[in-house]
Amino acid sequence: MNALFLFFIFAFATLVSALPVQLQTRDVFVPPVTYPHAGTVWKIGQRHNVTWDTSGAPVNITNKIGSIVLAKGDRLIGLANRLAKGFDILDGRVEVTVPDVTPADDYAVVLFGDSGNFSPHFTITN
Ligand SMILES: *[C@@H]1O[C@H](CO)[C@@H](O)[C@H](O)[C@H]1NC(C)=O
Ligand SMILES: *[C@@H]1O[C@H](CO)[C@@H](O)[C@H](O)[C@H]1NC(C)=O
Repeated sequence: MNALFLFFIFAFATLVSALPVQLQTRDVFVPPVTYPHAGTVWKIGQRHNVTWDTSGAPVNITNKIGSIVLAKGDRLIGLANRLAKGFDILDGRVEVTVPDVTPADDYAVVLFGDSGNFSPHFTITN
């Protein structure tokens, strides 16, 4: 099983566990991450706003509570220690602290609400 497949299983499990009783009046909303993007460089310890596009939000969202998980390549590496959680997905941004990880150029942040959306790969330096 590759990591991407595992990710989809995780995302699906998150979705199923988040399903409310009134399923028919609610919509899945998976906003695209707009920052960080390709070419972004973050330094360990800095504070940054992760941002995403909320313009396509449906009236009734299945799960409004978001979280941000760090990924490397296509693997989620920050599930146990999320960069941010418990915020409203309609905020469009949340401040995170760049974690102390091995510098590399294939990090991504994943925005979770109903499901997960990967940002493009970006760089973390020390
Ligand atoms: C949103 O949810 C409310 C209450 O559950 C419902 O009355 C309304 O029809 C829903 N609207 C849409 C666009 O699904
Ligand atoms: C994040 O965005 C908020 C609102 O625009 C702003 O007040 C805050 O200074 C930003 N934080 C950083 C680290 O840029």
